[in-house]
Amino acid sequence: MKHVTVVDHPLVRHKLSLLRRKETDTARFRLLLREIALLLGYEVTRDLETEDRTIETPLAPMQAPFLAGKKLVLISILRAGNGLLEGMMDLVPSARVGHVGLYRDPETLMAVEYYFKVPEDLRDRPVIALDPMLATGNSAVAAVERIKAAGARRLKFLCLLAAPEGIEAFHAAHPDVPVYTAAIDERLNDHGYIVPGVGDAGDRLYGTK
Ligand code: URA
Repeated sequence: MKHVTVVDHPLVRHKLSLLRRKETDTARFRLLLREIALLLGYEVTRDLETEDRTIETPLAPMQAPFLAGKKLVLISILRAGNGLLEGMMDLVPSARVGHVGLYRDPETLMAVEYYFKVPEDLRDRPVIALDPMLATGNSAVAAVERIKAAGARRLKFLCLLAAPEGIEAFHAAHPDVPVYTAAIDERLNDHGYIVPGVGDAGDRLYGTK
């Protein structure tokens, strides 16, 4: 699918299968999501800029690459985005972090914003928006609209699972924003949940059900 990178590394697929199982408890779900985020993060950050600097190893001086340019910004779409954020922060501890709070109206399934706090000067920074489930696409579309309005231009979207319907809606609204995911599942059910999916990612992360 256009502009969608499915990170189907065997370790990602294995950990995703463990995480999907209904017997997987909250602590293990959180740990697995953090580990998968690290592995997805490796791919989604592939084009970060580097610059060579002189260092000395115990044996010789060399020109060695270091991350360069404006710091990466990670934006968690609350609350399940925090599950991906943990692993991404392990991977890039120097990243700046923002949060977007949206909830899904259960009747309309549309996103309603209740919180928005992101680093200043997003304009020239690489930005990655995080939400584990790209389901209807409504909250992802709304969050990315707000992040763009705050100035972001170099934007990617990272999720754990995507539904074909969500990808279509997201790309119709944001054809310029590449999506990274561990898998594309079959479909949405009548309640807007991804099938087979993982269930409610927020509830499974925080044990709220
Ligand atoms: N949000 C979730 O947590 N799970 C889904 O399947 C869809 C949206």
